[in-house]
Parts: sequence; structure tokens; C-alpha cells
Amino acid sequence: GTPKRGHWSSRLGFIMASAGSAVGLGNIWKFPYITGMHGGGAFVLFFLICIALIGIPLMIAEMVIGRHTHKDPVGAFRTLAGGPWSMVGWLGVTAGFVILSYYCVVAGWAVNYLWLAIKGTFGGGHIQQVPELFSSLLASDLSQLFWQALFMGATIWIVLGGVSDGLERASKLMMPVLFLILIVLTVRGLFSPGGPRALSFLFTPNWRMLDAAAMLEAMGHAFFTLSLGMGAMLTYGSYANERTNIPNVAITVSIMDTCVALLSGIAIFSIVFTYGMAPAAGPGLVFKTLPILFSQMQGGTFVAILFFLLLVFAALTSSISLLEVVVAYYCDEKKWQRRTATLVMGFLIFLLGVPSALSNHLLADVHFIGGRNFLDSIDLVATNYILPLGALFIAIFTGWVMTTRVARGEIEKGTVNFHFYPLWHFLIKYVSPIMVAILFLSKIGLI
Ligand code: PHE
Ligand code: NA
Repeated sequence: GTPKRGHWSSRLGFIMASAGSAVGLGNIWKFPYITGMHGGGAFVLFFLICIALIGIPLMIAEMVIGRHTHKDPVGAFRTLAGGPWSMVGWLGVTAGFVILSYYCVVAGWAVNYLWLAIKGTFGGGHIQQVPELFSSLLASDLSQLFWQALFMGATIWIVLGGVSDGLERASKLMMPVLFLILIVLTVRGLFSPGGPRALSFLFTPNWRMLDAAAMLEAMGHAFFTLSLGMGAMLTYGSYANERTNIPNVAITVSIMDTCVALLSGIAIFSIVFTYGMAPAAGPGLVFKTLPILFSQMQGGTFVAILFFLLLVFAALTSSISLLEVVVAYYCDEKKWQRRTATLVMGFLIFLLGVPSALSNHLLADVHFIGGRNFLDSIDLVATNYILPLGALFIAIFTGWVMTTRVARGEIEKGTVNFHFYPLWHFLIKYVSPIMVAILFLSKIGLI
């Protein structure tokens, strides 16, 4: 017979695991740097609108589909509709594979920096030079592969533990620590000289900076940061029981994720402004700019340790959810042993990550999309194209293919009467698909 599927041991476990998936490098590394590049306030506001109008409804949709079928993404769509719809599940599993490959590389830098911080590298003003810094800290290709492998090893190890003893337990341990560190860093930032400027940068809209590219980036990031568009929340939903109030969980998780992004922005930009640096440093904001500033500040070593520990914990509770999507597919559809699926897929994903790891030295001069290196190119394709496309299909599926009887019935197993059903249905049926389609088409130049 088929082995028993895993499930969350409690509602809190489901929330912590889902929040763990959502809160990741996207919040602490990516959100601050793309916000910095797009001028702050207006971008943040549009991002919040995307979270509310598309993100939350879509998270509810994914969790509903997952729990209704208790299957992996491919199995879920095959069960509910079959035919070409299974492709949506496939797109998701592929996205999980691709995203995790470079996610582990960036997370590897974070582990490397944590180690450097512990050794005291960021203390006492040693670090001055911006351009050399990154390449000298990330010493060699070999050391990058080492840190990437270490992080992937930790991810595999947790996923091997299973749903409640692996994913859930790890998230319940790491998330509270993460919140505590974040609060310390935010309060510290608010009371530093750059605090007020950080607040006005994040919350005063500068509409001139909000063009179509910025809007697509904000929307793509809304999916990325909430782990949507590829079946991660669908898979996590498939481990929830019928008593779970899905809208409640989805809203809680989305609010937690948004708070972490905003607080990270405050913590990081207050440091940046205190030292008179520019907010638009790009992807190097966290890995190039911050270390210099840590090295100039009082107690920089301690702040650096806290910061990179925060980054590592956030990354780990997300990477396990990416691997879980792929593993769930091989277990549910291909009937592989969980152990085999985790080890084999973990290793293959590691291999796919190798070119990303080499993109700072060996492959530094090999350019792909728009002059970007390998890592930035696949990040762009995954975040700006695959996730919005997956999200578009999931929204269309939920709004137009799934019947009200199934959708409402599933939601109301866990909440007696979902008063907001008409609003949710309207958002998922019309607002999300239209917004995603318009932005998508304008990006590829059709309108
Ligand atoms: N939400 C995670 C982050 O913000 C990334 C992620 C995307 C995780 C998709 C799972 C699925 O870093
Ligand atoms: Na996130």
C-alpha cells in the first residue's frame, strides 16, 4: 500500500511552517534592495496593494486546493481537473527545483558571513573597500561550493525528518528566534541617527519612480515573498486537517511576512542612512554595503552576528519548503520513498546550483539576460516570469474551473460561515488574473 502522508501536528505548527516558508531571503535580502533600487515609498505601497489584492486571495486558493486533494501540486491539479491543468503543477515543481538551486547559493553566502562575523571579521574597522570586499570575502569558488553544500545538507537533513518532526519542528524552533533578533535590530535602527530617514524613505511615496518595470517587480516579489505561484503553499496546505481555518491562517502568515519585510527594511536602511550611503546599492546591499558599515559601528561584530543568523534562519525555513514541493511530487506521484526522493533531488538541485555558485569568479564574465550573470538571470526568470505565470493559472483555475460547491465547501470545513467568500471569489476570479495579465503583457511589450 501507499505510505501514510505526513501532516501538521497542530494549527500553530501549520502557521509557523507556512510563515517559515514565506519569511526568507526574499524579506531580508531582496525586499530591501529592490525597494532601494525603486526609490522606496511608492514601490512599497504598490507592493502592499499586491499582497492584499492578489497575494492573500491566492494563498487561500493554494491552501484550499492542497487541503481538498491532500496531494502534491501535480497530483492536486490532476485530481481536480486533469488534462492540461496538470501542467500547472509541473510548472510549480520545476520552479521549486530551479529556485532552490540558487537560493542555496545565496543562503550559502549568508552562512559564510555568519562564520566570518563569529570570527570577528566585521569588527574594528578592517573593512573599507567596497569592490574588493565581496570577492575577497567569498574567497574562492571552492569555498562557495562548500558553504552552498553545507546549507543544502542542512535543508536535506530537515526534510528527511518528515512533515511534523522535520519541517514543523524546525520552523517552531527557528521562527521565534528570528522574530526576536529582528525586533532587536529594528529598535536599534529606529534609535540610530538614520532611523527617521529610513522611515520616510520606506513610507513616503515617490510616484515618479513607479514605472511598469517597478510594478512588475513588486508583483513578482509579492508572489516570491509569500511562496506563491509554484505550489509551496498548496503542498503545505495538503498537510493540514479539515478543521483548519484556512483564510485565518493565510492572512496571519501574509501579515507576518509583510511585517518582517518592513522591519528588515527599517533595520537595514537606518544603518545605510546613518553612514550616508545610497539606498540603491542593488543586490549587494546586504552582502557588500552592510559589512562595511558593521565594521564602522560600535559593537559591529555583535550586530553582524545577529543579522547573519537572522538571514540563515530565514533562508533555512524557506529552503525546506522548496525542497518539500519536489519531494512531495516524487512521493505522491512516483511512489518513491521519502528518503530516496529527498536525497536524490537534494543532490540534483545542488548540482544545478553549481553554475550560480561559480558566477562570482569562474563564470563572472559569462552573461545571460540583460548582462546579468547566471544566478541573477535565473532569479529573474523564476521570479518575474514563472511565478506570475503560475499564479495566473492558479487564479484562473480557482476562479473559473473550480466550482463554488468545492471551493466554498472546502473553506467552510474549517470556518462555519466564510462571510468574505464573495469578496475572495471576486478577487480571485477577476482582480488577480486581470492585474497579473496586464502587467505581464506590458512587460513582454504587447501593450
Ligand atoms: N518566500 C521565500 C522568501 O521570501 C522564498 C520562497 C519562494 C519559498 C517560493 C518557497 C517558495 O524568501
Ligand atoms: Na518572504
